[in-house]
Amino acid sequence: MQTIQSVNEMQSHAIGLRSSGRLIGLVPTMGCLHEGHLSLIDIAKEKADKVIVSIFVNPTQFGPSEDYDKYPRMLDADIEKCRARGADIVFNPSVEDMYPQGYSTYVNEERISAGLCGVSRPHHFRGVTTVCMKLFNITRPDIAVFGQKDAQQCAVIKKMVADLNIPAEIVIGETQRDADGMATSSRNAYLTEVQRSEASNISKSLLMAKDMVANGTRSVDRIVAEVTHHLLLSRRIRVIYVQVVDRETMVPAREIIPGEQLLCVAAWAEQTRLIDNIKL
Ligand code: PAF
Repeated sequence: MQTIQSVNEMQSHAIGLRSSGRLIGLVPTMGCLHEGHLSLIDIAKEKADKVIVSIFVNPTQFGPSEDYDKYPRMLDADIEKCRARGADIVFNPSVEDMYPQGYSTYVNEERISAGLCGVSRPHHFRGVTTVCMKLFNITRPDIAVFGQKDAQQCAVIKKMVADLNIPAEIVIGETQRDADGMATSSRNAYLTEVQRSEASNISKSLLMAKDMVANGTRSVDRIVAEVTHHLLLSRRIRVIYVQVVDRETMVPAREIIPGEQLLCVAAWAEQTRLIDNIKL
């Protein structure tokens, strides 16, 4: 497995791979790799000849009061995990190479980005689309694999790819969960044992909602109220939003259509912002 830091080197290598007919699979990450990321490498390996994992903590997707500085960075361990899982290249550029002084160009998806996390993180998706566009231009993927845990991010990236005619297929991997039901996430590393046990109520509340739908509930209000109530029973949890949305457009639903919508939750477990979702 190769590691490449330089943007120019990565780009010329990718162009070479493509011109020799190889299918490139990209797994974009910010590192601190867990089973959720590693399962995306498995998907990329099934669909592509060469798998590139990018590891870049992207400053433009963090707000000024967010956790950019303390975001967990463990490059050596991440490189080992990529090697063990069979990736071909780890691309880990520097901030200076990705955003040289004077950098001033951004990609903005304006509709899907606006709701849910876009309300409390107003520049987040602009940072995500910008860095993904750059990563696509640098690594030239035929397919790029993202995780369903970040459902809104998946919808925004798919829209950007469609709107800007980017010649890459976006593949979405299932959310991976730990034994207590928590969606795997790099930010889980911030949680104490007590916070984690309360945070696991987020996934429990999603399952509760899915059961309600399976048992015939069709009222969005009813689902949102029950899930919010369930979450408020945990002392350390503060709800940011509980919403039922269309899974492509992220438009809030009026009534439940089984199989078509996602229940999305964002909450603080004390200082840690967590998100999760489930298909209803
Ligand atoms: O999901 C993430 O880890 C990031 O948002 C991504 C897609 C790697 C862009 O920085």
